Amino acid sequence: MAQQEDQFKKIVSHAKEYGFVFQSSEIYDGLAAVYDYGQMGVELKNNIKRYWWESMTLLHENIVGIDSAIFMHPTIWKASGHVDAFNDPLIDNRDSKKRYRADVLIEDEIAKFDDKINKEVAKAAKKFGDSFDEKLYRETNPRVLEHKEKREALHERFAKALNDNNLEDLRQIILDYGIVCPISGTKNWTDVRQFNLMFKTEMGSTSEGAMTVYLRPETAQGIFVNFLNVQKTGRMRIPFGIAQIGKAFRNEIVARQFIFRMREFEQMEMQFFVRPGDELNWFKQWKETRMKWHKALGLGDQKYRFHDHDKLAHYANAATDIEFEMPFGFKEVEGIHSRTNFDLSSHEKFSGKKIQYFDPELNQSYTPYVIETSIGLDRMFLSILASSFEEQALESGDTRTVLHLPAPLAPVKVAVMPLVRKDGLPEKAREIMNSLKFDYACHYDEKDSIGKRYRRQDAIGTPFCVTIDHQSLEDNTVTIRHRDSMQQERVAIDDLAKIIDSEVSLNKLLKSLA
Ligand code: GAP
Repeated sequence: MAQQEDQFKKIVSHAKEYGFVFQSSEIYDGLAAVYDYGQMGVELKNNIKRYWWESMTLLHENIVGIDSAIFMHPTIWKASGHVDAFNDPLIDNRDSKKRYRADVLIEDEIAKFDDKINKEVAKAAKKFGDSFDEKLYRETNPRVLEHKEKREALHERFAKALNDNNLEDLRQIILDYGIVCPISGTKNWTDVRQFNLMFKTEMGSTSEGAMTVYLRPETAQGIFVNFLNVQKTGRMRIPFGIAQIGKAFRNEIVARQFIFRMREFEQMEMQFFVRPGDELNWFKQWKETRMKWHKALGLGDQKYRFHDHDKLAHYANAATDIEFEMPFGFKEVEGIHSRTNFDLSSHEKFSGKKIQYFDPELNQSYTPYVIETSIGLDRMFLSILASSFEEQALESGDTRTVLHLPAPLAPVKVAVMPLVRKDGLPEKAREIMNSLKFDYACHYDEKDSIGKRYRRQDAIGTPFCVTIDHQSLEDNTVTIRHRDSMQQERVAIDDLAKIIDSEVSLNKLLKSLA
């Protein structure tokens, strides 16, 4: 655990040192849970957006994008249920004066049972070696079964309390399981209360005429309220989807773990409108499509898992999370929800406007059902950054810090370096860079030794370094170095684009999804 925390700290400081992520308002001592993306971070972020956007809008003829405003009519949030129910159950510890989410404290307690089970299994695997049958052990070992039973009992009680919105029982669970405040170590807890997560502000010039508006807590509602606009002007036929990337804001009670839980963040959401009754089939299909999108990045299939929801929102009839193994455990990166026709029906009711679709094949009108895929861009960024980071021990006894970023997402694709700053090498290097820069993000670097320059590029995850030496002037060849293997090969300048393209092409990545 301490090792993982240590690793996470290193990732956070690496992100700052190399211009990926900065604390917001740092010179004023920062603003909690708000971050800025630096010169490298913005490129990585834009590349993730492009990968998502193009996978939605290019690979699906029936998905189009929009960009709706952050400010929306306040009644939208009444209709969506956010004014009344977008709450987190919070609890305070009277001794440390720290505030926690009651559900998170209990989920952490549940995870402790999982840890105990995994420890038992790991111990047995070590003891029995090759003959170890993990499945059988998990099903029959009395200690494992005991932990499992206790876990299930807690889980069931917790799910019921959440579903019933039973705040007293949430508190009672915390007391019964002896959950203590990590800071004070005491059980001196207040009652559990609901806390609305939306930020409010005023719109209008005079105080009498001002209207309370909210900073949107999700981008999805901008899609719902534009359903008819897009369907009609785009002559869209069901099933079809509307995609959007944009900022969302939540006044998180416990904002922690760097860019994992922020107060201002970005979402990439797609609402897929289907016939009533078809939604669970589409839900299944979108689960597969989205998991494939994640796995195509090559970060390791074992790092992903689905987590089906126990507590369904009142409007949903199925929901799952795609979780990624972060340095602090498996955590939600994306949610896939079958939202029924709740949102469109509710907007119909609150706006008084008919929001229906006439299905020419069925010759009838209905309110479409919706499958939503909703991914946090910043969490996606964190999952890529964290799993790419390595402090690698080299055969030479040296170490290097390298980001094994998926090549199509790397901020810089190729670094162009003259071996020395004279003899016409910089000019030749510029010539090469000028021919590559229209297709690939390039860096020109002529400062310090080649070894140091390689390290700088490794640290920002540049897949290729191209070195121009005296031989290049004679035979138009250069050395190309591969980031992950550190292997170098002599290649013709004319072949560079082909070699680079074979790894960094977003197009190729998209084709792997088709
Ligand atoms: N429209 C559905 C919706 O907003 P959600 O599960 O609340 O669903 C979707 O959020 C995704 O947005 C999450 O899976 C997560 O990746 C991201 N997200 C939510 N809250 C976040 C926060 N405070 N900071 C960063 N990302 C967040």
